[in-house]
Amino acid sequence: MIPQIKGLLEGETDLIANLANIAAALKEQFGWLWVGFYLVKKNELVLGPFQGPMACTRIRKGKGVCGTSWAEKKTLIVPDVEKFPGHIACSSLSKSEIVVPVIRNDEVVGVLDVDSKELNEFDRTDQTYLEKIVSFVSFD
Ligand code: SME
Repeated sequence: MIPQIKGLLEGETDLIANLANIAAALKEQFGWLWVGFYLVKKNELVLGPFQGPMACTRIRKGKGVCGTSWAEKKTLIVPDVEKFPGHIACSSLSKSEIVVPVIRNDEVVGVLDVDSKELNEFDRTDQTYLEKIVSFVSFD
């Protein structure tokens, strides 16, 4: 999907348009339950473009998987969300999750969050390519 995503981003500079198409492309390709972005705004994560069921709109630093990924500036793979202390259950259907921070100038500017209905859905390969995909997006 890397060439497809690069193609999607070529010639479009609008951040929301690009994040919306990335979420749609990943959801279409893999059929994951929820694919979307949270963006850092005034020291909170605020819901951005996504595909899937309705989701919580604000997450504080250090809270849930998304807020922990932000605080720790690293990708988190959660094989079973029920075993992650403080996991925020936006949908009871979500069983496993990966959260990739988007880092620019050493600051987290947002996160890509992907949820699956299956346990143990995400591995290092997903991590590698999702990190690559978020690295292509210009957040300027
Ligand atoms: N489960 C996430 C919250 C976001 S929703 O899954 C879309 C978390 O614990 O941060």
